[in-house]
This record gives sequence, C-alpha cells and structure tokens, in this order.
Amino acid sequence: MTRIVTQHLIVTQHFGNEQAKQLAVYEQLGGYAALRKAVSLTPQQIIEEVIASNLTGRGGAGFPAGKKWSFIPKDAETVYLVVNADEGEPGTFKDRWLMYWDPHRLIEGACIAAYAIRAHRFYIYIRGELVRELRVLEQAVAEAYERGYLGPSMAGSGWAMDAVVHRGAGAYICGEETSLLNSLEGKRGYPRLKPPYPALRGLFDQPTVVNNVETLMNVPTILERGGHWFADLGFPGDGGTRAVALSGHVKSPGIHEVPVGTNLRSIIFEQGGGMRESGKPLKAVIPGGSSMPILSAAEIDVPYAFQAMLKSEQIREVEQAPGIKFRWGAGGTLRSMPGSGAVTVIEEGTCMVALCARIMRFYAHESCGQCTPCREGSGWLAQVCTRLARGAGRRGDVDLLQRVAGQIGGNTICALGDAVTWPMLAFLTKFRGEFEAKEAGAAP
Ligand SMILES: Cc1cc2nc3c(=O)[nH]c(=O)nc-3n(C[C@H](O)[C@H](O)[C@H](O)COP(=O)(O)O)c2cc1C
Ligand code: SF4
Repeated sequence: MTRIVTQHLIVTQHFGNEQAKQLAVYEQLGGYAALRKAVSLTPQQIIEEVIASNLTGRGGAGFPAGKKWSFIPKDAETVYLVVNADEGEPGTFKDRWLMYWDPHRLIEGACIAAYAIRAHRFYIYIRGELVRELRVLEQAVAEAYERGYLGPSMAGSGWAMDAVVHRGAGAYICGEETSLLNSLEGKRGYPRLKPPYPALRGLFDQPTVVNNVETLMNVPTILERGGHWFADLGFPGDGGTRAVALSGHVKSPGIHEVPVGTNLRSIIFEQGGGMRESGKPLKAVIPGGSSMPILSAAEIDVPYAFQAMLKSEQIREVEQAPGIKFRWGAGGTLRSMPGSGAVTVIEEGTCMVALCARIMRFYAHESCGQCTPCREGSGWLAQVCTRLARGAGRRGDVDLLQRVAGQIGGNTICALGDAVTWPMLAFLTKFRGEFEAKEAGAAP
C-alpha cells in the first residue's frame, strides 16, 4: 500500500507501525491523553467541542456527529453507543485498516463519545469476515481493561465503562444502523422504520448513538487540538480529514488520508499517482462507494466534501423519472457525495453497462426483501442490466430501467432503496449512449 505522508494525518498516523497497537506504545505516542482530559470535562462540554469541529459521519450519510450526540435525552437512564464496523459498501476498505493499525484510537474515541452521551457501555459491531481485525480489537480491549481505561472507573474517573466486541454474520444490510441494532439484539437483521430514530429508541429500546469507526477515531484529536483546529483543517461545515480508500485503475491504490475538501482530481492524480500504466485515460469515477452517483471524467474538479459535491455546478444533476424527487440533495435534486470515502477509478475501455449490472446484482442480492419496491425493483434492474450487458437485451429496456429505478428510492424503509436508484439513474444520465447502443444491438 502506498501512502503520501502529510502533516495532517489523524486516523492513519500509526499506519505501518506494528508496535502502536500495543497499549504501552500507544500511550508513549500520546494515546489516552485525550480520554484523561475528557473525564475532566462535562459531557456537554465534549459535545460542544465536537459540534465546533464540524465532524461529519464517515459511514456514508455525513450527518454531523456532535449534533447526533446532542439528540440523546439528558435524563435517559440507559444509553448505548454502537460502533459500526460492518464496512460492507463495495469499494470501501478503510475501517478494516484503521482498526488493524490503531485499535486503541478507536477504543479511546468510543470511550469519549460514550461518556459524552452518558453511556456506560459501547458495542463494536464488526463484520464477520474481518477475523484478523477482530483478534486485534479483542486484544486491545483486554489491554484497556487491564490498564483501567475500561472497567468500573474509566481512567480513574469513577465512571464505569464496558466494551463488547460483537461479530456480524456478513450481511451488507446489517451495516444499516437499525438493521445492525436488530442483529445485535439477536433478531433477524431487518431495518426498522424511522422514526423513532435510534437516538430516542435504539438498542434494546434505549437511546443509542451509532457511529462509524473512522468518525470515532477522529474524536481524540478533536479533544487534544480543539474543535476549531479540526474544523479549519477541513472544508466549511465538514471538518478534518477523510481516509480515502482509493481503488480501480489507478497507479497507487490504498488509503490516502487527505483534508476534507481536497480536490477529487488531486486525490486521484497526486495522491494516487494518476492512471495505471495501461495508457488509457480516465473515463469515470465512483466517488464514495458504489451507491454514490458516478462522475464522468469531466466532473472531478470538485472539493471532496459533502455539501460541496451535493451542490457543485461542475457535476451534472442526476436525471430522474418525471414527478419523482430525491429525498436528499439540494431542493430534491441529486448530484453526488463522498459517501463512505471510497473512490473507484475507471479507465476508458470499461463497459459501463457491465459495471452497472455488476453493481445492481450486488444490491439485488443484498436487499433484505422487506419492501416491495426494493426487493422487486433491484431484482429487475439487475436482470435487465445484465441481459443488456450480455447483448441479450430487448427493445425498451433502457426506458424500463429509468422507470423502475425512479420508483424505488424514497419509497422504502431504509436507504438501500436509494443505493439502488442513485447509481442506476446516474449511469443512465452520464452514459446513456452506451446503454442505448446495447439496446440497438438487441433483438426486437
Ligand atoms: C444499506 C446500508 C448499509 C450501510 N453500511 C454501513 C457500514 O457498513 N458502515 C457504516 O459505518 N455505515 C453504514 N451505513 C450507514 C449507517 O446506517 C449509519 O448512517 C452510520 O453507521 C452512522 O455513523 P456515522 O454518522 O458516524 O457515519 C449503511 C447504510 C445503509 C443504508
Ligand atoms: S429498502 Fe431494501 S434493504 Fe431496506 S428494508 Fe426495504 S427491502 Fe430491506
């Protein structure tokens, strides 16, 4: 893995240092100082610092972390924090490395966040396939108990804190926060209708915050250096850095931590070293995991930040079926987003119909089946896209894709419905010619 070292490294600063996963070494490197500071503050002071930092969720939706914590009722008796380490979005591979290289940073961040929302227990829900990372985490949790950062008196504060590492069973849908909560409770991993949101009724019906691994790993640095320092490092309304998981037809794939708002082109051509040696130019980029609308090569001169990409005039609006408005985005329109921080680089010569079909098959396979539009719609999109890609399409298939896709997003229990609609419509908006060419070659 290649990485360009900058002075802004936060969550990847211990990458490559095998020793840093030992508690004693982590402490020597300054670890757990933020937790000791945190317990000298009130929970409200911590929440205010995190609000000032403009830390947004790194799991995909970009919701402000401090604001989410502030929704927990102050008089709640039992509160939980759940760390989402399920990492299933295609293209995304940052959390597994963050946990592998720096497990104590996650534990420290989770302890601070749990204390801020007045929880005495947090769960780490880790994707079942990540066996190596599970072992690293379990070892780190055991060390933290031994050293007194976890247990009856967290860092000598008198505040009890427990951590439970729970292994998922490899279902993508269990990364969706309410499905994750059901799975953690031992039930089938079906997403719940919202509202009520987890902040009011979450795990075991108690107020709960669910945060992504990377989100929480930023928290110790926010307490050490201050919320304003963190906010200034990033982009207006979107503080800090992103651990970008760069993959595809690029010279230096891997995790590249960059300040939020770094130009997407420079992430690919400077951090990532540009296109691989095939000699083929850039064709397209999936900017934030496979559910995020794809960008053409002409649309990548944008700051890698949520609001910036949602509103950027550089990015073409995704065309939807008439009369249907997206739930997210500015005024019911949709451009794109950095999502889970996974940037997939695609070179000329790639068949966009085949690529889209591959993505649709993934979502059709992973749909939990509760909602008809998602269950049936994703299946049909996968089938029609696949037959087009294989040269066995039928006349009218492209219009069919547009109509079906437009009726899924916004009409389902969870955002997997959007994760089907958005890429499908974006592929049709940006690369419709390729779909039509496939259809034109189709049998009547
Ligand atoms: C289908 C689906 C899968 C998801 N998978 C993940 C995941 O693997 N990891 C993650 O952190 N968030 C995932 N999310 C987002 C979570 O529901 C939730 O928004 C996130 O964990 C909140 O943490 P954050 O605010 O720190 O980003 C997924 C959402 C959906 C709709
Ligand atoms: S949108 Fe899809 S994945 Fe989500 S609850 Fe409905 S059927 Fe399940």
